[in-house]
Amino acid sequence: MATTFLSLLFLLFSLLTPTLISSSPVQDPEFVAQEVHRKINASVARRNLGYLSCATGNPIDDCWRCDPNCEKNRQRLADCAIGFGKNAIGGKNGKIYVVTDSGDDDPVTPKPGTLRYAVIQDEPLWIIFARDMVIKLKEELIMNSFKTIDGRGASVHIAGGPCITIQYVTNVIIHGINIHDCKQGGNAMVRDSPRHYGWRTISDGDGVSIFGGSHVWVDHCSLSNCNDGLIDAIHGSTGITISNNYMTHHDKVMLLGHSDSYTQDKSMQVTIAFNHFGEGLVQRMPRCRHGYFHVVNNDYTHWEMYAIGGSA
Ligand SMILES: *[C@@H]1O[C@H](CO)[C@@H](O)[C@H](O)[C@H]1NC(C)=O
Repeated sequence: MATTFLSLLFLLFSLLTPTLISSSPVQDPEFVAQEVHRKINASVARRNLGYLSCATGNPIDDCWRCDPNCEKNRQRLADCAIGFGKNAIGGKNGKIYVVTDSGDDDPVTPKPGTLRYAVIQDEPLWIIFARDMVIKLKEELIMNSFKTIDGRGASVHIAGGPCITIQYVTNVIIHGINIHDCKQGGNAMVRDSPRHYGWRTISDGDGVSIFGGSHVWVDHCSLSNCNDGLIDAIHGSTGITISNNYMTHHDKVMLLGHSDSYTQDKSMQVTIAFNHFGEGLVQRMPRCRHGYFHVVNNDYTHWEMYAIGGSA
């Protein structure tokens, strides 16, 4: 596991047109992939300086963990992503919001202090936790834009109910949370912003469902045993990095693109780096359609059917 396992795989199913609009989340994919390699190389070089350096060889972790004040400077994390999700700023420059209540009694009128109350707000928020907690959600947690869920310093589980949905929103960071045993939700009203709630049909029961989302970074989470995917990104979602996660005990691990005929997924760009695909996984680590997927420096322990696949 400690061996530097440089498995580089480009799954490039379609070439993007070279004229990219600068406001679009879609980036020059070759440039972004090269930049990831440069950062990994620089980090490995720092590690080789030995005791003079705190470096681990992991450019993401070096970025925030080498700061002796990282506990006070939580939002520095937002500058540390690599790859296609690197522009995800989450709740950077927003207030710190402390979750004090693990409950989720009313998904339409969430109580202040709950995780749901925090994630639906319009303003940017950096969400942390007052203590260890297990949050069993009643319905999907439908996130609003510009939020970071930062589990550092507490043991936080989102488990046993529906889990996280990132739908048509942007700039979400999820870090240091345990997400497992996720179930389907739905046929219920759920609030997604202070001004709006709506009817949700039955959900898939993913750990993290990204649907038309952009600038999303999922880092240092553990994920296992959900109803559908651990992390699925569909419907033109792009600008995504999935890094440093620990995934175990699950069948359909990661689906990136849900349909051969959904050609809008050509703009999907996802980096999968420094993840540990551990015991009891079956398939889709990831399974890709249409977009540009940079799968680099992951550790695969075993897989029952296949590890990486693509089509379309
Ligand atoms: C990273 O290092 C490897 C091995 O030394 C080298 O082959 C590669 O060209 C370097 N990549 C970049 C982008 O610097």
